[in-house]
Amino acid sequence: MSYIECRKLTRAFHKGDTVIKPLRDLDLDIEEGMFLALMGPSGSGKTTLLNLLAGIDTATSGSLKIGGIELTSMPRSRLASWRADTIGYIFQLYNLVPVLTAYENVELPLLLHNYSKKERHAKVSLALDLVGLADRYDHYPRQLSGGQEQRVAIARAIVGDPKIIVADEPTGDLDAAAAAATMAMLKRLNIEFKKTMIMVTHDPKTAAVAQKTLHLEKGQLIENNA
Ligand SMILES: Nc1ncnc2c1ncn2[C@@H]1O[C@H](COP(=O)(O)OP(=O)(O)O)[C@@H](O)[C@H]1O
Ligand SMILES: [Mg+2]
Repeated sequence: MSYIECRKLTRAFHKGDTVIKPLRDLDLDIEEGMFLALMGPSGSGKTTLLNLLAGIDTATSGSLKIGGIELTSMPRSRLASWRADTIGYIFQLYNLVPVLTAYENVELPLLLHNYSKKERHAKVSLALDLVGLADRYDHYPRQLSGGQEQRVAIARAIVGDPKIIVADEPTGDLDAAAAAATMAMLKRLNIEFKKTMIMVTHDPKTAAVAQKTLHLEKGQLIENNA
């Protein structure tokens, strides 16, 4: 059994009389420790798939097992705690809270757990050091460059030591240098820290960092081992 196993995974949205199916009967296996890139045209279902894998959204039908656990039938409250333990999510536009400092943004997901302030400080410091922002704890998002904001977002995604990191176009809003730095960090998290990485990207250069690239079209996979 694969670490992540999608079988006939389908997500449908109803809008009036029409049904939109961003994912149709998708079969996908992802091994633990894999760095997978997902490419495909806009609207092909990439974000929908990431959200299912991350437990942010639930499938309409089909099966999704991660580490042997079936997510599609899990109650929402259990899904939320599973997600907090298992998933780190990195967004294209960082999604930092503007009124919180870099430190407080990274600390945020830890507040869902029963850590002491001292334990939280150790984890937040480790995460911010890892992304090279040890000197930016007290900066607000508006005082940081896009590349630095994305690094705070990566620190926030890894602070809880998740097994899986999903990233939705993490370099989509960055210049070439910041994009390269971001990809080097994601690669390191995969190789050195053994995180399973699932990343959506439009950019073939970004995808080249992954071990394997899959292409989505109209909610279905077209395998391509290039
Ligand atoms: N919450 C939603 N309600 C209705 N339609 C949605 C919703 N989320 C996504 N869709 C539709 O599903 C399709 C795929 O969306 P998405 O997964 O965001 O594509 P991608 O990330 O590949 O650009 C799009 O046509 C989009 O409009
Ligand atoms: Mg998308």
